[in-house]
Amino acid sequence: MGKNDIPTKDIPGLELNTRLRRNRKSASIRDLVRETSISANDLIYPLFIHNKDFDEDIESMPGCKRWSIGGLSGEVKRAHKLGIGAVLLFPAIEDKLKSSFADECYNQNGLIPKAIQKLKKEVPEVTVITDIALDPYSSDGHDGVVSPNGEILNDITVDVLCKQAICHAKAGVDIVSPSDMMDGRVGAIREVLDEEGYTDVSIMSYTAKYASSFYGPFRGALDSAPKSGDKMTYQMDPGNSREALRELIQDEDEGADIVMVKPAGYYLDLVYLFKENSDLPVAAYQVSGEYLMIKAAAESGWLDEDKIILESLLSIKRAGADIIITYFAAKAAELLNN
Ligand code: PBG
Repeated sequence: MGKNDIPTKDIPGLELNTRLRRNRKSASIRDLVRETSISANDLIYPLFIHNKDFDEDIESMPGCKRWSIGGLSGEVKRAHKLGIGAVLLFPAIEDKLKSSFADECYNQNGLIPKAIQKLKKEVPEVTVITDIALDPYSSDGHDGVVSPNGEILNDITVDVLCKQAICHAKAGVDIVSPSDMMDGRVGAIREVLDEEGYTDVSIMSYTAKYASSFYGPFRGALDSAPKSGDKMTYQMDPGNSREALRELIQDEDEGADIVMVKPAGYYLDLVYLFKENSDLPVAAYQVSGEYLMIKAAAESGWLDEDKIILESLLSIKRAGADIIITYFAAKAAELLNN
């Protein structure tokens, strides 16, 4: 039977007063009724930097680079022209500067303070966010100080994190973002920032950060994988979500300005939960493993990279994220502009 033979008039037709397809019948109607859309100003662009005068491809994260300070500034200017308003910095630290107490993390002449100063001078309108945690600086590859018997020491770590936050504040950072999952760190950081006069520096807390294998490629980028053990005693168990609400309540009480769920795409229930249970802006971090899975599938020709990037981000936004941290930020902004 050919197309012209469809027996429309012989079929009585359904008596439906509601036909949902009416709102899908044209691109312009679909545009009118769409509930969620993404724009470049929802995105935070994470960038890796190192203390070298060249930019270098990252093997574990194809398409990402370890930038020199100069290269970083060029990339941030490029992203800003595309509409990106915020960047999140991660340092690759030379082995010889790593130590068990991670003292390099509050060196005022260190890599991160230099990068903050450079960006605030050259692209002052871009919001600069820094990660607060010890792992890039720790000879043990942990987010906290490790005791001789392998325990991650909470309160001593928080003291170092406070020094790190003050160091970044002195350099001019706009937002500090504790990713370490120690108890009490948001409140402690808020208190020292305020004491030192940095009442304007915001805190974006990694509130529900899971002990996830999706961080593998990131640890390759910074050579920051734990030398022994895993991060299960401080990052959250992937099986839990009610516990995330307890973290949320604590971070709100302790003065967080933005709360985060991480990873994003496989934890959309958490993003939704946070949106329903908090009036704070909710951020979600599409992490290195999520990035890499899309990259790998696109490279092998199995998925359409551009479409998957936008759909993955839209899904995270639809679940309730106000802010998305993604290695695709600049690329997504480019796609959105077209
Ligand atoms: C450091 C930190 C990690 C990530 C962000 N901050 C790694 C970890 O906790 O092991 C992961 C980001 C990503 O995978 O993209 N505390």
